[in-house]
Amino acid sequence: MVGALCGCWFRLGGARPLNPFGPTVVQTSMSRSQVALLGLSLLLMLLLYVGLLGPPEQTSWLWGDPNVTVLAGLTPGNSPIFYREVLPLNQAHRVEVVLLHGKAFNSHTWEQLGTLQLLSQRGYRAVALDLPGFGNSAPLKEASTEAGRAALLERALRDLEVQNAVLVSPSLSGHYALPFLMRGHHQLHGFVPIAPTSTQNYTQEQFWAVKTPTLILYGELDHILARESLRQLRHLPNHSVVKLRNAGHACYLHKPRDFHLVLLAFLDHLP
Ligand SMILES: *[C@@H]1O[C@H](CO)[C@@H](O)[C@H](O)[C@H]1NC(C)=O
Ligand SMILES: *[C@@H]1O[C@H](CO)[C@@H](O)[C@H](O)[C@H]1NC(C)=O
Ligand SMILES: *[C@@H]1O[C@H](CO)[C@@H](O)[C@H](O)[C@H]1NC(C)=O
Repeated sequence: MVGALCGCWFRLGGARPLNPFGPTVVQTSMSRSQVALLGLSLLLMLLLYVGLLGPPEQTSWLWGDPNVTVLAGLTPGNSPIFYREVLPLNQAHRVEVVLLHGKAFNSHTWEQLGTLQLLSQRGYRAVALDLPGFGNSAPLKEASTEAGRAALLERALRDLEVQNAVLVSPSLSGHYALPFLMRGHHQLHGFVPIAPTSTQNYTQEQFWAVKTPTLILYGELDHILARESLRQLRHLPNHSVVKLRNAGHACYLHKPRDFHLVLLAFLDHLP
């Protein structure tokens, strides 16, 4: 602690204007108010120092929270979709987050990453789906057409009683999310595309028509799908773009902390 104080002292000294007459003169020429100011600055430095070296910001949410129960189930009917769900832990926000997944993943990814648990902690209901043919969802014939995929997603939201969905759609899930966005964007309160597929199938005019607040997220090192999709998604009238540094195509996996912070900031500011 003594060393720390000295460090503060020296840094403080360095920050003040250089005095050509050396330290003795500084001592004698200090007025009472200067001493008070110095004392105050020192205290501030100390507080800052303690703050910086204090326990790091809570990171346990990255790896799960024992207080959050992740529920799992199948949507009703004869084309069931497997889902994992969390309810808001404390006060509830109005919007609900629906998480899709890329080709190498499924709903479990969002539990492993702690995304579901974090959203619950921050007051969001969140549902992660296994798309047909992935995880615990059987393949469905309906999923072979664009209209079928849009209808399937719409039905899943209805069955799960999701009223104010913010749809998070990485990579391959764009196959589902984009047809749904084009037909049912009035049902979406927010859209978070993460380098999704299928953006090329729609015209600029179609994107212009979608008023849904959108957060376009992608990894800096994703040079193919991110760029291709960004070119199209840019035509959405109400969007912001966040590039995650040092992250690839699955940027949420490479930089989970940054991803979570950016996602929460977007969700927290939705009307
Ligand atoms: C779980 O809840 C208990 C009791 O409310 C609390 O003390 C503890 O800090 C919580 N754990 C986490 C990881 O938030
Ligand atoms: C995009 O177009 C291709 C080729 O026409 C088609 O195979 C694919 O299903 C379409 N994707 C969507 C989401 O409609
Ligand atoms: C655009 O989206 C933001 C949320 O990201 C929202 O607060 C704002 O009202 C939207 N603007 C319009 C014109 O819809």
